[in-house]
Amino acid sequence: MTQPVLGILTLYLNDNGALEEKDIYAKMTAAGQQIGLDLFVFTPDDVDFKKNKINALFYHTDTHKWTRKWTSFPHMIYDRCRIQKSPRFEKLREFRKKYGQLTFLNRPLRNKWTVHKTLQQDERFKSYLPAAKLAESAQDVAEMLQKYPLLYVKPINGTGGRGILRIERKKGGRLLLQGRDQARRIITPAYITHSELASFLRNWNIGNVKHIVQQGLQLKLPNGRVHDYRMLVQKDRTGKWQVTGCAGRMGPARSVTSNLHGGGHAIGMTELLNMWVGEDKADAVKADAESFGVAVAQYLEKSFGRLCELALDLAIDRKGRVWLLEVNPKPAREVFRQAGEMDTYRNSILRPLEYALWVNEQKKIRKAAGKTAAASASFSKAAPNLEIG
Ligand SMILES: Nc1ncnc2c1ncn2[C@@H]1O[C@H](COP(=O)(O)OP(=O)(O)O)[C@@H](O)[C@H]1O
Ligand SMILES: [Mg+2]
Repeated sequence: MTQPVLGILTLYLNDNGALEEKDIYAKMTAAGQQIGLDLFVFTPDDVDFKKNKINALFYHTDTHKWTRKWTSFPHMIYDRCRIQKSPRFEKLREFRKKYGQLTFLNRPLRNKWTVHKTLQQDERFKSYLPAAKLAESAQDVAEMLQKYPLLYVKPINGTGGRGILRIERKKGGRLLLQGRDQARRIITPAYITHSELASFLRNWNIGNVKHIVQQGLQLKLPNGRVHDYRMLVQKDRTGKWQVTGCAGRMGPARSVTSNLHGGGHAIGMTELLNMWVGEDKADAVKADAESFGVAVAQYLEKSFGRLCELALDLAIDRKGRVWLLEVNPKPAREVFRQAGEMDTYRNSILRPLEYALWVNEQKKIRKAAGKTAAASASFSKAAPNLEIG
C-alpha cells in the first residue's frame, strides 16, 4: 500500500523561483516520514493543467537536497499561499477554481475587514473586537478619531506590519502620526493638526487602497516598546481545534508594530502577562484568550470553509481584557522557536500533518460507508421480493 500524500501548495516569490519557508517544508517532510505521510511542495506554475500532472519539489531527508519530479495529484492539499500582487496569484485563483473539488486541508480566509464583519455577527466575540470601520475616506478616519483617542489604520490585505499607521490624539488638539510604510520602514513621527489629516491620508493612499481603521490599544511596556501576542490554533490528530501555543512579541525601539519581520522579538507569554496584568490575573486571562481562540477558529471555519490552522494576533490591555487585532490564515511558527518553546515549535509543524492523516482516514471511512450504502440500495432494488418474503 502506498502512503497518503500531502501536497504543500505555495507561490514563487519572484521569477527566479524563490520560495518562502523551504526550511519548514523540509522539517515537515522529515516529520511526515515518521508518521507515514509523504509530502511534496508545488506551486500553480508547476501544474500542467491539461495533463493534470505536477512538476513537484521533493525533499530528501538523507541528502538534505530538493529535487523535481513529475507526479500525480496528492491526496490532500495544504495551502500556504500568501497574498501577492502578481500573475502568479492569478494562476493560483485559476488553480483553486479548476481543482476546487480536491481535498484541501484549508480554504482561503478573507481580508481583515470581512473577517471583522463576520466575527461581529456573533455576540460571543463582540467584547473582543476593537471598534473598526472600513476607511474609504479621510472622513471615516476623522469620525473614528472623535470616538477614540488612538487609532490604527491598516490595509485590509496587508501583512507583516506593512503600511500601518498609528494616529494618537494629543493634548492641545494635535495628532501624533507614527507607523511603517509599504516597505516596512519606520516613518518619521509627525505632529499635525486635525485639518492637515485629510491631505496626509490622501498621501497614505486612503481611498485608493482599502484600509480598515481600528480602535487602538495602548500596548507600550514600561520600556517604551509595544507588545502583543501570537496565538496558534490548530486542528489535532482527531480533527479537533486546540491551542498549540501562545507567545509574546515585543517591537523594536520606536516601532508601533511588534511583527518579528519588522525587528520584533519573541518572549514567553507568562513572563509578559505576569508583569502586565499581575500574577493573580494571568492564568484567568490566558484561559480566556485560549477559549476565545478556539471559538474563533470554529466559527471562521463554519463561515469560510475548512481550515486547519489560524494564528491570532491578540492584544491584552492592562485590565486583562483580551482583544483581537488580526487573524492570520498562513501563520509562521518562528515565534515559538525564538521564545525558546521548542516543544510548541515542533508541535506546530507536526499538527497539520497529523490532521492530514485524520482527514485521509475520514475519507476512507466515508468511501467504505458509501460503498456499503450503495450495495444495500442496489440489493433492495434488485430483489424487492426477498425483503417482503
Ligand atoms: N488596534 C491596534 N492597537 C494596538 N496595536 C495594534 C493594533 N493593530 C495593530 N497593532 C500593531 O501592529 C501590528 C500589525 O498589525 P496587524 O493587524 O497584525 O497587521 P499585519 O497583517 O501587518 O501583521 C500588530 O502586531 C500590533 O503590534
Ligand atoms: Mg499581524
